[in-house]
Amino acid sequence: MAILLSTLTFMMIGLSEAKSGNDLCTFNPLCTCRRSHHEVICHGVPFSEFPTFSTEEIYQVTIVRSGLEALHHNFLEGSSIASLHLMQNQLTHISAKAFGGLENILTTLDLSYNQLDDTLLAALTPLGTLQWLNLKGNQLEDVHTNRWSQMKFKDSINSLFLSSNHITRIQEGAFAVLSNLDLLDVEGNLIHDIDSHSFPTTLRSLSLSNNILKKVPLHAIYTLKNLRYLYVSGNLFRKLPSPFHLQTPRLEKLEISNNMLTQITEFVFNGSFTIKELNLDFNFIRDIAARSFKSTALERLVLSNNRIISLHSDAFVGVEKTLKTLDLSFNLIEEFPSAVNNLNALFYLSLKGNMLQRLEKDDLIGFRRTLEILDLSGNMLDTVPHLTLMRMKTLARLSLQDNRIRIIQQDDFKGWGESLTTLSLANNGITHLPEVSFTHLKKLKELKLSFNSILFFSPNIFKPLERTLEVLDLSSSLFSHNQSIDVLWKNLKNLEWLQLDQG
Ligand SMILES: *[C@@H]1O[C@H](CO)[C@@H](O)[C@H](O)[C@H]1NC(C)=O
Ligand SMILES: *[C@@H]1O[C@H](CO)[C@@H](O)[C@H](O)[C@H]1NC(C)=O
Repeated sequence: MAILLSTLTFMMIGLSEAKSGNDLCTFNPLCTCRRSHHEVICHGVPFSEFPTFSTEEIYQVTIVRSGLEALHHNFLEGSSIASLHLMQNQLTHISAKAFGGLENILTTLDLSYNQLDDTLLAALTPLGTLQWLNLKGNQLEDVHTNRWSQMKFKDSINSLFLSSNHITRIQEGAFAVLSNLDLLDVEGNLIHDIDSHSFPTTLRSLSLSNNILKKVPLHAIYTLKNLRYLYVSGNLFRKLPSPFHLQTPRLEKLEISNNMLTQITEFVFNGSFTIKELNLDFNFIRDIAARSFKSTALERLVLSNNRIISLHSDAFVGVEKTLKTLDLSFNLIEEFPSAVNNLNALFYLSLKGNMLQRLEKDDLIGFRRTLEILDLSGNMLDTVPHLTLMRMKTLARLSLQDNRIRIIQQDDFKGWGESLTTLSLANNGITHLPEVSFTHLKKLKELKLSFNSILFFSPNIFKPLERTLEVLDLSSSLFSHNQSIDVLWKNLKNLEWLQLDQG
């Protein structure tokens, strides 16, 4: 019975594919031949050897999860295949002459997630036009420079993926001969050492994440003048080099997440380069010193999941006008850090999962004209901090979810709620919703009140939202009420989504 069912399902898929303009291949109806796209695709079709088919006018071949074990010499000779994708097979052997005939044709080769070791490289040597090579998830160990200097593609390749292999060291000059390399990914290896002059100065994107480096290998990367993306997350850094200097004028992204940093020291970036986005999440940072980010012109900063209790009041000196996104979620902050208030361009602020009990009147004043998204969920607030929020001019999305707000006061949204489009008050233990609670939320589209214990509410409570509300979540919120509740949403003209699943 089970077999019959799966056959039926399979036939239906086959039919719907045929309808959508894909042709079943004549050499194997489990594959798709999109002649108009010059493409053959076999997904999960069992083969132990590369299938034989007419490659006339076929430029792209994809054979994924098919159990291919070996590629024999000249297996695609005479074809014009420029793009070959053989991911997630069981390739252990590729003949040194496997790609014979494709030397001046193949530009893209994906051999990721196979079981290939260093002997594979002999087969790649003659490929003179290769631009994109993915060897992720194999068993390569040695990436010594001799390997690459013999490659005919050393001047054409621009993207090289060697992540999740068994590389332990990058030796002097290793990749330096790849004169056009734009992206190098050696993430997820066991690299503990990187020698100087290992990378070509053309690199724009370098990923060294998830290795076992003890220090940021500045000596190997500082000369990379074109570097824009640097990923060094998931290593064993206890501190950052100071100064952290590079010869590139700017990084679009610097990821140093998941290390063991405990502090960010004063002026650690000495102004040699600017950074658009800096991720320092999942470290053990307790202190952020004064002027830590000075001269970085930082726009996005992620400091979530650290041990931050407080920030130096001058922590953000120098980025007051550039920082737009600040994520301080899941730290140990008990009092709103005054340093944050120095920021004048903030658009997004998350203080989710801290230990704030209250906000003072002037706490958000520095960015009252720019903030649009504020996440205060998972704190210990016991009232809607309306005196603080009163100053906000452009706040559109606010989460007060998972706090301790029992009672919503009549005036909680007065004077500032007009700009809100999304509000979450879920999981607060709210018992009272006065009749006029939501009068001031003139633009509200989405309201979450789930997981509360609302005992008292007026049948007219959502009346002010009649014309705007699209999403309303009331699941597990209306407890022990003795009123009929469907009157609550009867007149909500734009309601598209209503959740109500209390038991
Ligand atoms: C940053 O420090 C490096 C190394 O000490 C130095 O060469 C460079 O000139 C400094 N840059 C600035 C802008 O101070
Ligand atoms: C609901 O309960 C409240 C408080 O116990 C009571 O004042 C009210 O009259 C009740 N309403 C209905 C419709 O039974």
